[in-house]
Amino acid sequence: MMPNTPRHFLVDTDLAPAEQAEVLDLAEIMKQRRYDFQPLAGPQTGIVMFDKTSTRTRVSFAAGLTELGGSPLVINPGESQMGHKESIYDSAKVFERMVSVVIWRTYAHAGIQELADNSAIPVINALTDDYHPCQVLADLQTIREAKGTTQGLAMTYLGDAANNMANSYLLGGATAGMHVRIAGPEGFLPDDAVVATATRRAEMTGGSILVTTNAADALADADVVVTDTWISMGQEDETEMRLELFKEYSVDADAMAQAAGDAIFLHCLPAYRGYEVSPEVIDGPQSRVFDEAENRLHAQKALIAWLLYASGLAEIPADL
Ligand code: CP
Ligand code: NVA
Repeated sequence: MMPNTPRHFLVDTDLAPAEQAEVLDLAEIMKQRRYDFQPLAGPQTGIVMFDKTSTRTRVSFAAGLTELGGSPLVINPGESQMGHKESIYDSAKVFERMVSVVIWRTYAHAGIQELADNSAIPVINALTDDYHPCQVLADLQTIREAKGTTQGLAMTYLGDAANNMANSYLLGGATAGMHVRIAGPEGFLPDDAVVATATRRAEMTGGSILVTTNAADALADADVVVTDTWISMGQEDETEMRLELFKEYSVDADAMAQAAGDAIFLHCLPAYRGYEVSPEVIDGPQSRVFDEAENRLHAQKALIAWLLYASGLAEIPADL
């Protein structure tokens, strides 16, 4: 068997700006011609493995693999040997003999990096403690639909600015040429290394990065306002402290009034109404959260197909 060099998607910057644009173009086509592309017909299997709970990620990857002509094998927390009875290396060597792609939601990012480093098939990050890049692809698709482009638009994130969504907005937004503004309290801002990488990306694409503790500075005239839960999976013990700490970064009607008049609101969901977002915003006319959730399906189908094409593991359809 010829060795191949698989393309993985672990961090938003694993796609160069032109490659991210190709995936988003393909996502638009996948949405319009939903059942036309079957690069996994054969049939082939994709593993969708979870160490944390999920609704959207689980359903969108399972449905997406089916629509691409393959079969999803969903492995729930605690159901495989990997990580407790068996090493990541041995698991990677087994998976690549049997399936076409591995999608994994886990805690430490180092684990998925190790899996990918030892895998001859594409590995996709379905959320780690540090990044949630598939979510940001769906967000970018939603922004394109609402605004026609991502280039040059200002996207403001308020809240827990040290979490996986904040990091992925920085890196994915900068890759898409956006002006990404991140606001959260001191001590809960993104790591310098992530900000430096995002800044370098923004210099390539004409975007920019602002990290601040001042919500008003971040919100002024924003085209897109986003937030996320203040208590990510695994942080439940810190609930009381977090609810107090982040409350001035809630996206309510006052916050939306500081953004552009035609700004849209996004949230990866699950959302906690009355905490990071008020009901009048998430259930109001500027909210696009259910388009965003639907786009997980289309963006991830496009991503899987693109990674298979780029890895030389599937043929690009002639009519694409
Ligand atoms: N947004 C998101 O990833 O949702 P789930 O945790 O339900 O998969
Ligand atoms: N930051 C959240 C995202 C959930 C989709 C978490 O990690 O729990």
